[in-house]
Amino acid sequence: MLLSVQNLHVKYGNIEALHGISFDIEEGEIVTLIGANGAGKSTTLHTITRLPPPEAPRVTAGDILFRGQSILGVPPHKIVSDLHIALAPEGRHIFGNLTVRENLQLATYARKDRANVQKDLDRVFELFPRLMERQKQRSESLSGGEQQMLAVGRAFMSGGRVLLLDEPSMGLAPLLMYEKFRTLKRLNQEEGITILLVEQNARIALQFAHRGYVLDTGEIVAAGTSAQLAADPEVKKAYLGG
Ligand SMILES: Nc1ncnc2c1ncn2[C@@H]1O[C@H](COP(=O)(O)OP(=O)(O)OP(=O)(O)O)[C@@H](O)[C@H]1O
Ligand SMILES: [Mg+2]
Repeated sequence: MLLSVQNLHVKYGNIEALHGISFDIEEGEIVTLIGANGAGKSTTLHTITRLPPPEAPRVTAGDILFRGQSILGVPPHKIVSDLHIALAPEGRHIFGNLTVRENLQLATYARKDRANVQKDLDRVFELFPRLMERQKQRSESLSGGEQQMLAVGRAFMSGGRVLLLDEPSMGLAPLLMYEKFRTLKRLNQEEGITILLVEQNARIALQFAHRGYVLDTGEIVAAGTSAQLAADPEVKKAYLGG
């Protein structure tokens, strides 16, 4: 098992946000975590990467294993540089005053495999032609959808082999959203990137992922292949509009 979250309890201050959730991801899989606002999706990703820190969620019980080893004691920067787990955060957190290209280059600073940086940059520009066209543009002037692409590009440029994507569909028009998911599928199929996808848009998430889990106010309430979840009457009613 690549990543295994086991009975994870997480608190912000005195309030518990995750009440003992468990899920697994195999290498090369696309797994989605779907759920409504406030279900604990971003909290789950931030607990794995422990970024950003100001009001970081605190693990009070359970464990997160990566290739069988607990990573709760691993410093956040090593999660990226040594374990190659990278987050493309909700709200993007790109550097607006830097160009697209500078943002992508900055993401590589902790990489040990410098020889692969240029190849990966070429790959990002091939996968996201819009980023190539706009590589000298200041990132703050990108559209919301383009900034979402840049967030994924940065996670890949940081050397991430396991990408944690926080609502990559947010704010995208349907056409751009499908294009983006096709690109993510290529990263999975052609580069062997493992993806944990967090989404409120259950419809697209279940079209794209191999398997999924439904998170409801800090608890996993359903699990299965995407086809099983999409056919589940409760999931249909609550997340797929009947
Ligand atoms: N920094 C924080 N301090 C205190 N409580 C927080 C903090 N971040 C999140 N929470 C709370 O934890 C719960 C889960 O939030 P989280 O952001 O993980 O939800 P989410 O599933 O990502 O929702 P959304 O779809 O709206 O992004 C919510 O009740 C939220 O108010
Ligand atoms: Mg969120």
